[in-house]
Amino acid sequence: MTTTSAPTSMTLDGCRTLVGRLPLARKVELVTGATMWRLIALPELGMRSVSFSDGPVGVRGLGEVEGETSVLLPTPSGIAATWDLDLAREVGAAFAQEARAHGVDVVLAPQVNIQRTPVGGRHFECFSEDPALTAQIGVALVEGVQDGGVAACMKHYVANDSETERTSMVSRVGERALREVYLAPFAAAVEAGVWSLMAAYNGVDDGVERSPMTEHRHLNVDVLKGELGFDGVLVSDWEATRNAAAAATGGLDLVMPGPGGPWAEGLLAAVRDGRVAESELDDKVARVLLLAHRVGAFEGSPRAVEARDLNALARRAAARGTVVLRAPDTGAPWDRTAPASIALLGANAERPHVLGGGSSTVHPEHVVTPVEGLAARWPQAAIVVERGGDPRVFAPRLKLAARVPGGLTVTWLDSAGATVREDVLTAHDGWVRDIPERAVEVVIDCDVTLTEEGIHRLSVGTVGIHRTEIDGVLASVGERRVGVDCVLDSSVNTPHGVAVDVEIAHPRTVRVTTRHQVIDAAGYGRLVRAELRHALPRRSDEQEIADAVAAAKAADLAVVVVGTNEECESEGWDRTTLALPGRQDELVSRVLAEVPDAVIVVNAGAPVLLPWLDEARTVLWAWFPGQEAGHALADVLAGDVEPAGRLPWTLPARDEDVPVPHAIPVEGVVDYDDGVDVGYRAWERSGSRPAAPFGHGLGWTRWEHRSGEARVTQRGIELDVTVRNGGARAGREVVQVYLEALDDEHDRPVRWLGGFAAATVAPGEEASVAVRIPRRSLEIWDVRQGAWVLPEGVYRLHTGRSVRDIREVSDVPVGSAP
Ligand code: BGC
Repeated sequence: MTTTSAPTSMTLDGCRTLVGRLPLARKVELVTGATMWRLIALPELGMRSVSFSDGPVGVRGLGEVEGETSVLLPTPSGIAATWDLDLAREVGAAFAQEARAHGVDVVLAPQVNIQRTPVGGRHFECFSEDPALTAQIGVALVEGVQDGGVAACMKHYVANDSETERTSMVSRVGERALREVYLAPFAAAVEAGVWSLMAAYNGVDDGVERSPMTEHRHLNVDVLKGELGFDGVLVSDWEATRNAAAAATGGLDLVMPGPGGPWAEGLLAAVRDGRVAESELDDKVARVLLLAHRVGAFEGSPRAVEARDLNALARRAAARGTVVLRAPDTGAPWDRTAPASIALLGANAERPHVLGGGSSTVHPEHVVTPVEGLAARWPQAAIVVERGGDPRVFAPRLKLAARVPGGLTVTWLDSAGATVREDVLTAHDGWVRDIPERAVEVVIDCDVTLTEEGIHRLSVGTVGIHRTEIDGVLASVGERRVGVDCVLDSSVNTPHGVAVDVEIAHPRTVRVTTRHQVIDAAGYGRLVRAELRHALPRRSDEQEIADAVAAAKAADLAVVVVGTNEECESEGWDRTTLALPGRQDELVSRVLAEVPDAVIVVNAGAPVLLPWLDEARTVLWAWFPGQEAGHALADVLAGDVEPAGRLPWTLPARDEDVPVPHAIPVEGVVDYDDGVDVGYRAWERSGSRPAAPFGHGLGWTRWEHRSGEARVTQRGIELDVTVRNGGARAGREVVQVYLEALDDEHDRPVRWLGGFAAATVAPGEEASVAVRIPRRSLEIWDVRQGAWVLPEGVYRLHTGRSVRDIREVSDVPVGSAP
């Protein structure tokens, strides 16, 4: 790590001396959280309030400023796909810059959980299925943030790798898998000096203790703070803490959000009656004070951060991380002359999905759509956009200004049914948060003007107790009371709504009356969710697909953008299928049948099945690309930037080959019986053929590799590899070295990533890259000794372009103490 060992000289011991100046109640107040995103200030010590914000695709801000916007970067898997530690550091620096701009001290990122199953709801927020790649990208990002004097809060500690029953499930993980896979990125960050970590919602059964992670004394106190030497703050995930004393003795330092919650009075009482030693509380307070020092909360004004052009970074990162899954032999689309006409097809071409759902959401000032990006790059081109079928279940939000000129009448009722307040709203984003104190229920009424002939579809997306009538029809009744759970399972973000089809022959108004019980979502406040939705009469999917195919045939360049959307990939739930929603596969196949040169772009965070992959000449994986989506796509299609991404996970070809197809708890437990064989390691063991292996990415040139002699040192293995660019374009090559233990007696993976290094090389030129395989990559966690050991023997180095595209093999004998 470069300079992140605290720009302040303050240490934990130094902070311990300050703790004595605070009375008990004040100490409890400090570790309880003051608001959703802030801690209390301590003017008596000269400390301002420390503030927190999500992470990890941008810095959302504190919600204290109306209309706050943030730079939206590509999804973390897309950053990892660059295998570029400098870029990850730049992204970290961007977080620091944005944090300062939004008055934030601690960014709740990066997320270094492991992509254990491709259906994992937060897969897109994580970096990789490989622990070493995750750790290296994660550490570089932490360095970038903390070098700017802003804290990273690495999350979610630990084994928080799926979303089903996310707040209660227990991950049962063997000690070896825990150490070698799931803890590894956290351990690397602690060694590098990360200032805070977030304790996960889930519990862990590691064979020593089975507890929620907010209370897991073994993993939090013995391992994290004791053995690994973490001197930072372990903050709870939001609303995760249940038990005051158990969390306090279990190693948690800070409960968020506040005020109130399980600590506050609960912790005060636990200290007073001796269930929690005051010295334990003092340790937490000292850690929070150290964090405050580190982020400059004791200084007059926060340290300045170098200002960079973050729009440019967002664009560059999105283009660079794009993975070329398939490229034509006969020259790539970027080698063509400027197209005079472009057919831009697919639902995600029309409405790109630029970020995944849940707490990582930020609100960018702008999003460059594909059509805007291509039009800016090729201003002369005629561009036609065709959706080619609607894969979404839910209709778009009703346009209030155009359809409801009279506005919405909102009537607030108290528990006796009496009116507390009545408002007329002319704008409504589907959320109601300004709720009168005594109100327990709200009735929303409106008249929707429908003029277009045909079938309109109306619905109200909501959660909790409600009753919705549309055009005199009882559309939906909900009888289940919800609370904070609807925030934590994200159902409140993409709420269901039963649609009513209304046939319009002559223009008329349609009455919508919808009644909702106010939801008390704990620290997230009191709210009502009522998203009015409306879909216009439309062509059938069949017709839309036929029109898209016709447009493709008529254009010089056809680009089909398929992908997932807010109904598929989100925090709060795991997916139930790897298939693309709707008829998108059919759209692609039908376009390719007519236009084999069509470029297929996949706009998704986590793996989806691409049954047409072998039919396509050019396929790009563009992730959730962030706010510069359209520009990045144009940069790639025009050949201005090499899409140099390499998959940080395995792309399955068939459902039945997926090693961990789901993570549905059985009696509350998810058994990590795959051990250390996570992701591609399981594919190597089974021998099944994926659609694209881990590490795959063609870029746009051809490479030859030539390895030098491997050197074994105290620190591991070093290997110089010469890469020659044999193509006609400059490119960036990522040399990947996979290890195999030939004399394995320890059930090691068939192959695992030992190290990687990259170089950018001009056509016809060569460059030498130095791959460092750290000693830790060779070691195993010895369960009997409770220590890392280096099994001696011959290690085979597989050097290549992916785990399945191995160019060279060499054998290296390693002694037990090299
Ligand atoms: C998520 C965290 C997030 C927190 C605050 C939680 O539900 O799990 O990742 O940082 O909310 O938004």
